[in-house]
Amino acid sequence: MRKKTNTPPSSDVHLNLKQYKKIYKQSITDPNRFWGEQAKKFISWFTPWKKVSSGDFRKQTKQWFVDGKLNACYNCVDRHLETHKDKPAIIWEGDDPNKSLTITYGELHEKVCRFANVLKKQGVEKGDRVCIYLPMIPETAIAMLACARIGAIHSVVFGGFSSESLKTRLLDLGCKIVITADESVRRGLYIPLKKNADTAIQDCPKVKKVIVVKHTGNPVEWHKKRDIWYHDAMKEVDAVCPVKIMDANDTLFVLYTSGSTAKPKGIVHTTGGYLVYVAMTFKTIFNYQDGDIYWCTADLGWITGHSYLLYGPLANGATTLMFEGVPSYPTYSRYWEMIDKYHVNIFYTAPTAIRTLRHEGDTWVTKTNRSSLKLLGTVGEPISPDVWEWYYRVVGKSKCPIVDTWWQTETGGVLITPLVGVTPAKPGSAAWPFYGIVPEIIDENGKIIKDTRPGKLVIKHSWPGMLETIWHNRIRFIKGYFEEVPGKYFTGDNAYRDKDGYFWILGREDDVIKVSGHRIGTGEVESALLTVHKISEAAVVAIPNEIKGHGIFAYVVTKPNTDLTDLKKTLNKAIQKEIGKIAVLEEVLHVKELPKTRSGKIMRRLLRKIAANEFEELGDTSTLADPSVIDDIIYQRKKIND
Ligand code: WTA
Repeated sequence: MRKKTNTPPSSDVHLNLKQYKKIYKQSITDPNRFWGEQAKKFISWFTPWKKVSSGDFRKQTKQWFVDGKLNACYNCVDRHLETHKDKPAIIWEGDDPNKSLTITYGELHEKVCRFANVLKKQGVEKGDRVCIYLPMIPETAIAMLACARIGAIHSVVFGGFSSESLKTRLLDLGCKIVITADESVRRGLYIPLKKNADTAIQDCPKVKKVIVVKHTGNPVEWHKKRDIWYHDAMKEVDAVCPVKIMDANDTLFVLYTSGSTAKPKGIVHTTGGYLVYVAMTFKTIFNYQDGDIYWCTADLGWITGHSYLLYGPLANGATTLMFEGVPSYPTYSRYWEMIDKYHVNIFYTAPTAIRTLRHEGDTWVTKTNRSSLKLLGTVGEPISPDVWEWYYRVVGKSKCPIVDTWWQTETGGVLITPLVGVTPAKPGSAAWPFYGIVPEIIDENGKIIKDTRPGKLVIKHSWPGMLETIWHNRIRFIKGYFEEVPGKYFTGDNAYRDKDGYFWILGREDDVIKVSGHRIGTGEVESALLTVHKISEAAVVAIPNEIKGHGIFAYVVTKPNTDLTDLKKTLNKAIQKEIGKIAVLEEVLHVKELPKTRSGKIMRRLLRKIAANEFEELGDTSTLADPSVIDDIIYQRKKIND
């Protein structure tokens, strides 16, 4: 093992290993005392909670900060005005490097109040769901905070999702309002967001109003009775809007993510627990110091954007950088040039971006300065030791500690991570549990693994950032997270703990794939494939991909006498329509039959091995209804290799 101290050059660090161990122990032996202190320190409450927590985690009745009253927008904006009115809250850079904007806390307050009034004028009330289908522009953050201000529940839908995906979410939530833009821009190309929204809304009779941000200025179809220009509406309202006093357990937002079934699930996060958790983890894990410029490259359409681009940084009064574009446009130096341009101190991105940039060679990085950097972070997938080393050595010039943060949409914030100054780094490991978090590794028989064998990663106790439920589907929530290992939160990941107590995340154990950091359910892709008339059966698995982490591999069975010309193209078109551009098939294998057990279950284990060309390691195939099916599949797989 190569030891790296993980200590930044100018030590702003307040912690050492001994202190970490002491605090960790306190946090798990008396979580109520620990989280009560954090909640007081990080968040301003209108009324303090009566109990730090109540209920029973094992019965899924746990609640945090019971009867506490607060407002997330107040905590992220208003309370900073006294000291930070002129401090930049958001620095935005467009896809076009010549477009940028700085919004101070004072300006953000005004814009958020105005937009909150726009929403109120349209009849939006506490508890109403507002869908935000916008590009990475400041208006997205403004819309989220405006919802939080008046107690409306926001649901951001990533701009790369199709109109079908948007429709499913609008219907599930019963939204009355959608906020969108004329178009979004990526790599200089325009994506017709308003058009997508129009198509989705055709089947959503509850949607009464669409507020449209003029972003590119290109013409859009206009529905006079329904559509409202954002800029017009903002002029017609005033800039004073009181905050709604919210209960700690009122919903702050719903964010959809993929699970093991075809239908994405609406992850529900509460106001109090979530905000305490993201505010506290942001400060502690990124070692944020007042005045730091912080950049998280995630889109606001994902949880990383919610927790560590918006709520966590703004709750701490930080300056957060928001970027509309991609790391490869106009050149592969874009990220590094932006770090120099804005003097970024803390940089948080995903392994897939690091792999892409590493692939293009060091010169794109080394021709920039990057001397402002103090800390680097990564999230979303396992980072392999060689990629970690490159990030550390080339990007961080062997000066910046790396925090490899493990967490999920459901967990709200980071649960396993190194801590600066505390954890000697092991490249590729997310290191140790954060305060209050007790992870366990479980074997197939449900027993806790005490040694270094891999197993299912579960979390033993509640933490404030944990999802409250799945929107309108408590049964799915309990089944999905608490039944696999009774009474414990099942993460869906496999992991092992080494002899030094470091956690090594091995990837998903369920039917979820991470493609370029995006979470995609195999069930979702399969149901998209089945919308193609010629397909009678489909099974989707992940295959390793050097840049994307994983690629999507589909096995399909077609109806008799089907024309197979352009099969992959047709299937990709269907996926693009049903899900969006984030999911593209890497390979398609046309087979006569899928391998099934006698009870009709598809043996995905075999399909994964064959897709990865691991023909020798197929294991026991005797439970197959017809073992000869495998020979045909292997034959077809070898044919594409040739
Ligand atoms: C994976 C993203 C290894 C993991 C915040 C998890 C990681 C899923 C890491 C959640 C990491 C996230 N190392 N794997 N540091 N971080 N993952 O909901 O499989 O988009 O279950 O949340 O990403 O993905 P999600």
